[in-house]
Amino acid sequence: MSKQLPIAALTFCALALPAMADEVNIYSHRQPELIQPLADAFTAETGIDVNIAFVDKGMAERLVAEGDRSPADLVLTVDIARLTQIVDAGVTQPVASDVLTSNIPATLRDPDNQWFGLTSRARIIYASKDRVAAGDVTSYEDLADPKWKGRICSRSGTNDYNVALLGAVIAHHDEAYAKTWAEGLKANLARKPAGGDRDQAKAIWAGECDIAIGNTYYMGQMINDPEQKDWANAVRVDFPVFEGDGTHLNVSGVAMTKSAPNKDAALKFMEWLSSDVAQKIYAETNYEFPVKLGVARSELVQSWGDFTADSLDLTAVAKARPAALRIMEEINFDG
Ligand SMILES: [Fe+2]
Repeated sequence: MSKQLPIAALTFCALALPAMADEVNIYSHRQPELIQPLADAFTAETGIDVNIAFVDKGMAERLVAEGDRSPADLVLTVDIARLTQIVDAGVTQPVASDVLTSNIPATLRDPDNQWFGLTSRARIIYASKDRVAAGDVTSYEDLADPKWKGRICSRSGTNDYNVALLGAVIAHHDEAYAKTWAEGLKANLARKPAGGDRDQAKAIWAGECDIAIGNTYYMGQMINDPEQKDWANAVRVDFPVFEGDGTHLNVSGVAMTKSAPNKDAALKFMEWLSSDVAQKIYAETNYEFPVKLGVARSELVQSWGDFTADSLDLTAVAKARPAALRIMEEINFDG
C-alpha cells in the first residue's frame, strides 16, 4: 500500500506538470552573472521562470548525449564557431519568428534560423596611454611587424577569441599568410600568453608590455571593478582594421535545442532577448554592442569613438576555425 502512494503521486505530478510548465531551461556557456539580470527582468515581465545551468565545456557533446531527454530549451553562448558547432552537431532546431528576423540584422543570424546573434563585440587593442601614441596601432596585419618586438601581451592562442581572430586573418588572406602572421605576432610577445583579456590590460598597467589584444566589453567590466579600474585607466581603446576592411567582430547568440520541452516559453525568451529592453540591459550591464537597430551602445562604449566593422561574413570565420586552431598549435603560440 505504501508503495503505491508514490506512484499515485508521480502520476498526479506528471499530469499536473504541463499546466504549470511556465519555465524555460537554459544551458549557458556565458557566465551566469551576465545572464541573471536578463532572466530576472524577463521573469518579472512575463511570470515565466528562467533556469540557468552553466555549461563551461562540451556543450554540443552534452546535448548529443542527452538527446530527447535533455531538459535544455535554449543554448546561450559566445563565439560564432561555438554557435555553428552546436548547429552542426544536429541538436538545434530552426526558429521561424518575425520578431527575431526584424530585430536582428541578417548578417548576425543564421540564414537557416538555427542561431541568432544577440550582441556583438569587437576584438580591439588596449594600448598604453603613456607609451603608445594615438595612431600607432593601425591594422591587425601590422601586429606582426618587428617594430612591436617585446611590446605585445596576449592570452592563449587557442582561446576562442584569438582563434576567431586568426580565422578572420585566414579568411582575409590565406592559411600561409595567417601562419606567418601568427609567428610574427608570437615573436613580438613580451611574455608567454597567460590569463584572460583583463590580465593583459593589467600587464600594460604594470609596464610589462605596451599593447594587448582584448574584447571591448572587458574595458567596461574593469572600469566598474575597484581592483581593476587602474588597469583600464592605463590603456586606450584603439580599433585596428584588416587592411582595406574593418575591425574584427564576434557575437554572442542563442539557439533552440531540437528537443526543447518548453518550446513556447523558450521562443518568448528568445524574442524578448532581442527586444529593446533586453538589448539595453546587454548594452548597459555587459558593455556589449546591441544588435537591434536603434538601441544605443552604452555611454562608455560610445566614448571610444566610432569604428568600421569588418565586412567579413562571420560564417567564414567559423569555417576557418579548424585551420586557425591547427596553426596556433603548429607554431606553439603559447610556448
Ligand atoms: Fe569574454
